[in-house]
Amino acid sequence: MQPTSNLGINQEQDVAAALLAWYDAHHRELPWRTSPRALAAGHRPDPYHVWLSEVMLQQTTVEAVKPYFVRFLQRWPEVKDLAQAEPDDVMKAWAGLGYYSRARNLKKCADAVLALHGGRFPDSEDGLLALPGIGAYTAAAIAAIAFDRPSAVVDGNVERVVSRLHAIETPLPAAKAQIKVHVAAMVPAARPGDFAQAMMDLGATICSPRRPSCMLCPLNTHCQALRTGDPERFPIKAGKKEKPLRRGAAFVAVRDDGAVLLRKRPDSGLLASMAEPPTSAWTARLDGGTDADAAPFAAAWRPAGTIRHVFTHFELLLDVFRADGVTRSAPPGCWWSPPREIAGEALPTVMKKAIEAAIPGITRAERPTKADHD
Ligand code: ADE
Repeated sequence: MQPTSNLGINQEQDVAAALLAWYDAHHRELPWRTSPRALAAGHRPDPYHVWLSEVMLQQTTVEAVKPYFVRFLQRWPEVKDLAQAEPDDVMKAWAGLGYYSRARNLKKCADAVLALHGGRFPDSEDGLLALPGIGAYTAAAIAAIAFDRPSAVVDGNVERVVSRLHAIETPLPAAKAQIKVHVAAMVPAARPGDFAQAMMDLGATICSPRRPSCMLCPLNTHCQALRTGDPERFPIKAGKKEKPLRRGAAFVAVRDDGAVLLRKRPDSGLLASMAEPPTSAWTARLDGGTDADAAPFAAAWRPAGTIRHVFTHFELLLDVFRADGVTRSAPPGCWWSPPREIAGEALPTVMKKAIEAAIPGITRAERPTKADHD
């Protein structure tokens, strides 16, 4: 596909140069990032850090990722350490970041890097694409940022910047291919990794979805959307379908010592292998199978509120029930989790919300660290 750009070749390189100059002065300091100054002094980004951060950042915000990234590196400083980790420990450390198939693929990818590449990440987009859990975006991002390959890196922020720069009237997602062509035309031969990160930073800080700071934008003289007087109109999006609603019930059983009954979800499907309090089926029907009648055993169940969670393909309303003073032993496949252990269980966000509705604060109570015992 040819760029439909009204920027000429020279202008594309002007845009890249203006963006890089802005990035030198205004880039965000991020724990996984090697700054332009450090790069100029000869430091290279660690591909393990770049890969880990990019996988974490898929569908998750920079602020949410920062503490997870730091904790992962403290615990698994190199890719070989992650390859040798217990999968359950990786799931627990990931709990709260969402999209749990990413955590399973993270472990598989670390295994493959160790087994097939001697612990070194391949340095080309094609080599990276062949690894588990690495799709087109992540391969391009790692190739550019870690190995300075001139890859066209396009995430949601970059889509917005380019849609505005060229006032692209084609709605997303149909415009994706066109946007990638525009980005490929702009990638400079020198500093493609910084260029990719500069586009992301510009989208995150200046070219924001609402009320973009066009006065401060280094690309404002090139921006076609700004000329239309309504840059916020871009990117144009195809109408979104409403998500179907499912309902269910979650049962938080509490023992006298405060322990909560948990079970492990099946090893495949939604939230595979994660922990949860027992729940009913989640269905679109309201036929009695999704309320207190669906409890896993008889106890003094009391309503503890309703939580709402939006998944990729549906929205879930979970009615939460709590029973105190439960004395029975854990049914097969379940365990009693003491209050100090709950924050460290592999609980996805939806299940943390359900437990929090029943026992406020319990999923945030930190376990004592190892140092506390030493
Ligand atoms: N979002 C995804 N990857 C990123 C990166 N490398 N820097 C900033 N934001 C990002």
